[in-house]
Amino acid sequence: MQKLNKIYEGKAKIIYQTDQPDLVIQYFKDDATAFDATKRGTINSKGICNNKISAEIFKVLEKNNIPTHFVKLLDERSMLVKRVEIVPIEVTMRNITAGGISKLLGIDEGIILDNPVLEYHYKNDSLHDPLFNEYHIYALKLATARELEAIKDLSFKINTVLIDFFGKRDLDLVDFKLEFGRYKNKIVLADEISPDTCRFWEKGTKKKLDKDRFRRDLGDVEGAYQEVLKRVLSGK
Ligand code: TMP
Ligand code: ASP
Repeated sequence: MQKLNKIYEGKAKIIYQTDQPDLVIQYFKDDATAFDATKRGTINSKGICNNKISAEIFKVLEKNNIPTHFVKLLDERSMLVKRVEIVPIEVTMRNITAGGISKLLGIDEGIILDNPVLEYHYKNDSLHDPLFNEYHIYALKLATARELEAIKDLSFKINTVLIDFFGKRDLDLVDFKLEFGRYKNKIVLADEISPDTCRFWEKGTKKKLDKDRFRRDLGDVEGAYQEVLKRVLSGK
């Protein structure tokens, strides 16, 4: 597999063309940003952890009949993925209140939600990824009704699989963000699933093992990413 030109560079990843038109390389950086990139930093070895964690999760999801863009791991910081057209919607699933929902609704963090809460955010940095609903999505023609049904259905299924996967590793899956893409007229899960895009609280102690350690200056950020990787690979 030949790594060719850079196609796109985001805040945490770079996408490279390959010699196969349908496949690209997703490279994970150590760069970390928060609050619309107003806070910037580096988390040593984050890229390695997120690459390995995401690969493992994509494999688990595929085994559970969730289509993803994942093809295979290439090296410590890279994976081969299908070249998708990203749907500019960030889907947030919440099982326990934290962060955005606590701020939005003025409620404490740590309240267990009886039913998971799904939110759509418009993937648009200059507008600060605003919360919006399906009517906005149709008005902006970001997805068809069939695509949005698939996105919603997959998001709930992913939540069920991941609550179980992380639960067995003594981690509560507080919330997470998903992005989907179009590949050959089908909706597939894309982007990454990692401590950058999820909140994990250790069962019992409620210790935060995710990017909130960076966002909130809680210290030992690198250790948290390493700990999640260790648990993900523990094969429980
Ligand atoms: P929030 O509570 O700040 O809305 O975040 C919800 C989840 O989404 C949390 O697990 C972190 C993740 N997230 C991203 O992946 N990217 C983002 O830009 C933001 C704001 C949150
Ligand atoms: N990565 C996002 C940013 O830099 C925000 C976040 O994850 O908190 O804006």
